[in-house]
Amino acid sequence: DKGNHRHFMQKEIFEQPVVVAQTLQAYLKPLDGKVALPIPEFDLAEVKRVTIVACGTSYYAGLVAKYWFEKFARVPVDIDVASEFRYREPVLEPGGLALFISQSGETADTLAALRHCRAEGQKIAVVVNVPTSSMAREADLLLPTNAGPEIGVASTKAFTCQLAVLAAFAANLARAKGKMTAEEERGIVQHLAEAPAALNAALAHDEEIEKMAPLVAVARDVLYLGRGPDYPMALEGALKLKEISYIHAEGYAAGEMKHGPIALIDDSVPVIVIAPSGPLFEKTVSNMQEVAARGGRIVLISDAVGIAKAGDGAVATIEMPDCHPLIQPLVYAVPVQLLAYHVAVAKGTDVDQPRNLAKSVTVE
Ligand code: M6R
Repeated sequence: DKGNHRHFMQKEIFEQPVVVAQTLQAYLKPLDGKVALPIPEFDLAEVKRVTIVACGTSYYAGLVAKYWFEKFARVPVDIDVASEFRYREPVLEPGGLALFISQSGETADTLAALRHCRAEGQKIAVVVNVPTSSMAREADLLLPTNAGPEIGVASTKAFTCQLAVLAAFAANLARAKGKMTAEEERGIVQHLAEAPAALNAALAHDEEIEKMAPLVAVARDVLYLGRGPDYPMALEGALKLKEISYIHAEGYAAGEMKHGPIALIDDSVPVIVIAPSGPLFEKTVSNMQEVAARGGRIVLISDAVGIAKAGDGAVATIEMPDCHPLIQPLVYAVPVQLLAYHVAVAKGTDVDQPRNLAKSVTVE
């Protein structure tokens, strides 16, 4: 049931504050200032390396998680898309934890990778939205997202719930490995608990994003740029736009622009820059200025401070709430989802059932 919404995708985008809160409930003990896994007896202290495998949007959640596992738990992380992982010869050593991320829990390549890792003696952790799925059944450590059924082919609420679970899991791993003080853990719990309100604040920009959709809908090519954990957001923004509006889009690490893609820039190419203010901001802004100097039409997604500093170079800005860096990937997912959604609606495509795509890819 779509309720008051025109499409399931729209409904699912707007459900995010509620489903992220509902997902986090199983992982946070706010009164104690602690994170806790649904299966507390699973021992993470011995984990020496994490290997993350997933496809599509779930893979981008994994890319963000890599930053968190490395930063908080100081554990080396290897990550690959399932269809590549499966057919190379990855080195899987004892003490390795293999982590699979999937909305459906049935994606054929991810499931095949999971079985391969099990055969190679890895412990198997699974972040999955469908609790009765094959991956859920085959996990040693099941980390459910509680997003509820996702109907739109474009994944939205499952993604932000995956990020919420992965952030809590990273904190848990960090504690188990003795890399996190009680004070730091309390901070993480507090920041995660702020995510639902920040998601609501991001959703409040819906109408404004709808108004800028025509700017993107006329384009043949669109670039998305980000740095650090915003780089996966650039990839996610580009994937969302491609899959539902059929506009060619690419996500790029902002610093890679000058190594090739900047040759594409002219005044017909919208460039979506995802750059919250913070330690990486100045660098991304200088990449943005390189784009502006070549006539690129910039849409800057940032917070008030970032927009005040750099908004002049942009044809449009989208102001996100000021929020802690930990939850920025969840919050900045919202404007890229909404932009893709409104562009697709403007183009009149089938938003919930885009051509050539299935909700769950069960062939390798
Ligand atoms: O069910 P899964 O999370 O394993 O699916 C993975 C991808 O097929 C999926 O994320 C796909 O990329 C989405 N349609 C993206 O919106």
